[in-house]
Amino acid sequence: KHALIAQAEQVLRRNDRGTYTVPTHGLYPFQWNWDSVLSALGFAHFDEARAWTEIDTLFAHQWEDGMVPHIIFHERDEGYFPGPDVWSTGRAVPTSGITQPPVAGFAVRRMVDNAKDKDLATQRARALLPRIHAWHRWFFNSRDPEASGLVAIIHPWESGRDNSIDWDAALARVPTEGVEPFTRRDIQHANPAHRPTHAQYERYIWLVQTFRSLGWDNTKLHDASPFRVVDPGFNAILIRSCADLAELAEQLGEPEIAKQSRDFATRGIAALEKLWSDAHGQYLCLDRSTGELIDSPSIGGLLAAFAAVPTERAAAIARRIDKLGDAAKFLVPSHDPSAPEFDDLRYWRGPVWLIVNYMIADGLSTAGQHATVERIIADSLALIHESGFAEYYSPITAEPCGGAHFTWTAAMVLEFLA
Ligand code: DGY
Repeated sequence: KHALIAQAEQVLRRNDRGTYTVPTHGLYPFQWNWDSVLSALGFAHFDEARAWTEIDTLFAHQWEDGMVPHIIFHERDEGYFPGPDVWSTGRAVPTSGITQPPVAGFAVRRMVDNAKDKDLATQRARALLPRIHAWHRWFFNSRDPEASGLVAIIHPWESGRDNSIDWDAALARVPTEGVEPFTRRDIQHANPAHRPTHAQYERYIWLVQTFRSLGWDNTKLHDASPFRVVDPGFNAILIRSCADLAELAEQLGEPEIAKQSRDFATRGIAALEKLWSDAHGQYLCLDRSTGELIDSPSIGGLLAAFAAVPTERAAAIARRIDKLGDAAKFLVPSHDPSAPEFDDLRYWRGPVWLIVNYMIADGLSTAGQHATVERIIADSLALIHESGFAEYYSPITAEPCGGAHFTWTAAMVLEFLA
């Protein structure tokens, strides 16, 4: 255990660029939003001040409308595509123009609760509180124009689950006409069989070009995007962050933020119910442009357990995960191994990701599903023992996939072992 902790700390230090952390050298040479926030949870185990700096740096690049971008391009690096010129968001320090799962409300509350230096934690959390709240408000203003209680992502990259099977049909409707020629860099750093396909990249870039042509104006992008998907996993993260921010705001004497955050969370939990599928025993995504649920049993519908869903829903999710464990040697596969599209090596079409394991385990633990939680944690650590700190892993063979020396994987190991 001691050796693993030391190795995990070493991965974090290796990827530390002083005020922010790269997910891994080469493949991802900048600051990524949710990578960074989850990595802060790792730093908090051995350097609380550094952990707070990680989140402060991210929020220093928040947009005036409240959005927190998914990439901050702190330094030039030609080894990544699409770089700042493709995004052209016009920021002094360039950023991308879309967002990522909002884990900050959850992480900041956790860092305050566990802090050894309470004064530092209170001071940093107090400064972050209105910023995180502005991000949450931005979500409900710009990504839920009809006030359904749930927000849509308008680009697969926002979900973090870039090439999930969930998006296949919606992404197929995204055109490719007018996509400027490009050279991918990701497949020079990682095995192409572990990454999204060219056809997916063309559509990712079409969406970026389209949003760029609208001047990154978030009052227009949601309705203009042909890709609008309500992901239960993404929404669960937002709901959980709102609920945690409400608690924190209460502690810090900010009743107005507490009340609004609690309202967001309550409405979200109620609205999630519309995404439940009895047939699958889990939540499903909703395609907002067709109004239909997406019949795709992915981890997005299991990650919903990260929010305070009804106890019987959490119990059903635990049963579903136990069942997936019959086909997968290592939990939790990002897609059901019995589905024809399942691919044990290709990014979010099957592989196990420790950050998702962590969030599911946290939610199921609160819901009292301890046996499932124990297996998820044991499998996560078994993957580390077999294959090191990879970006993701085959749930069948434990083959390490994507990038190596991966920051958030190491951070999750520190969380599991703490
Ligand atoms: C990538 O480049 O693969 C990222 O996931 C996009 O943010």
